[in-house]
Amino acid sequence: MTDVATTSMAPAAEPRVSTEEVVVLDYGGQYSQLIARRVRELGVFSELFPHHVGVEEVARRRPCGLILSGGPASVYSDGAPALDRRLLELGIPVLGICYGMQLLTRDLGGRVEAADVGEFGRSGLRVHDPGRLLAGLPAEQTCWMSHRDTVFEPPPGFAALASSTASPVAALEDVERGVYGIQFHPEVVHTPYGQAILERFLADVCGCERTWSAASIIDEQIARIRAQVGEGRVICGLSGGVDSSVAALLVHRAVGDQLTCVFVDHGLMRRNEGEQVISAFRDAFHVPLVAVDAQDRFLARLRGVTDPEAKRKAIGEEFIRVFEEEAARLEGARYLVQGTLYSDVIESGGGTGTATIKSHHNVGGLPADLELELVEPLRALFKDEVRRVGAELGLPERLVWRQPFPGPGLAIRIVGGEATRERLEILRNADAILQDEIRRAGLYRELWQSFCVLPDIRTVGVQGDERTYGSVVVIRAVTSDDAMTADWARLPYELLEQVASRMIAEIRDVNRVVLDITSKPPGTIEWE
Ligand code: XMP
Repeated sequence: MTDVATTSMAPAAEPRVSTEEVVVLDYGGQYSQLIARRVRELGVFSELFPHHVGVEEVARRRPCGLILSGGPASVYSDGAPALDRRLLELGIPVLGICYGMQLLTRDLGGRVEAADVGEFGRSGLRVHDPGRLLAGLPAEQTCWMSHRDTVFEPPPGFAALASSTASPVAALEDVERGVYGIQFHPEVVHTPYGQAILERFLADVCGCERTWSAASIIDEQIARIRAQVGEGRVICGLSGGVDSSVAALLVHRAVGDQLTCVFVDHGLMRRNEGEQVISAFRDAFHVPLVAVDAQDRFLARLRGVTDPEAKRKAIGEEFIRVFEEEAARLEGARYLVQGTLYSDVIESGGGTGTATIKSHHNVGGLPADLELELVEPLRALFKDEVRRVGAELGLPERLVWRQPFPGPGLAIRIVGGEATRERLEILRNADAILQDEIRRAGLYRELWQSFCVLPDIRTVGVQGDERTYGSVVVIRAVTSDDAMTADWARLPYELLEQVASRMIAEIRDVNRVVLDITSKPPGTIEWE
């Protein structure tokens, strides 16, 4: 991620013509992206914009509904993000969530005050009058709250629908005006009826058509890609990850053999990964593919490099060099496919400057002077949608559900030392055992990532009555939604035992296996 100081730009994923849309205005809440994702899961396209994007920008999309997100501010604090009243005059139904509801309440004449106690986490919701928004849902339900200010009285003309332990008014509506509010977060899984409430809003209040699906995304993107590239030649750098794979397949569907994929094997991948990519693309999909075996080049470039950032830099630069050489061979290529996702678009348009914790040299991150025009068919999609599109396009399950893998690969998992051929082999073998056992236990998809780390140290052991002095393998497995935060996975003891004994028995150099039980924060997912 780069440091971006612009907040005024709307991170637009092109306006849509063919699909109805719900606009989500982001007031800085933790779950704002999730709201847009949930709306899309219900079959309605949704985009997230900074709250100050401007009423014209919202109106231009002719949305069927508008959602105001939660946010960390108090409506009474200095500089608290405001509501542009003209948004309420567009004739579009509005749903305020948490801060969004408090803003609506205060601005329309209700009473919002700081309560003595805040309400954080699970709470019991009692529905007194289901109204339109909560129609057909249980009178008592659990919901997820995170607020200090509280609505005590709805604005004139509004009905109070529900309350919770600490919120006298936890849901309200004015059907005439088309304004709705809920204090809790329907988008998180801890609100079991959250998705049903969003569905009521979309279907019964907004009357949105539910046409957004993997199939509609494919049709739309194919049309766009054809319009953009015409008869031109297109290059795509394949990494083996789900994003570049799906982007490549979409482009291939759209323009066939005008596309050439370039797969650079830097020798830093996991066991068999390179072969899987080559066989899926070349043999199964018949996509023109140039596979470059650059293992020796990368190993030579990594000789003597131990500093983590220096490793990333060396790998990133070498990747660009190899890719440029291949691109130069493809005469007349004018377009370059990139697997940019909607979350990248949002993050680069909305941030106020984030500290660079690690420089993420995405392999595939190419320099601007390559003079190729970008084709970004995933620019409007969240990761889960990319997976659905991949499955719909027939991408093998192994590729669709592949856990994230860093561009610099296994090299940044050899910690405190140089990534040599021998160490990479030890790590690759250990990793293969871990993946094998995790898949066998049916846990692969539940984990955000599971991998091994090889620190550059040796410890003493005893095997077959002999003293050994061997390598230590660290097991790292985490659960996460987005890699911003992560929890260490509670892997079953039996699984850990099986993994450890296999590693020590099957990998000659390994005599000790340890488990990393650090969450993020304070740790990061990778070790360097
Ligand atoms: P950290 O270690 O910062 O990682 O918690 C967050 C996510 O990013 C991945 N990661 C990388 N991806 N190039 C990449 O393409 C990199 O240099 C890199 N470093 C970390 C990491 O695997 C995790 O999913």
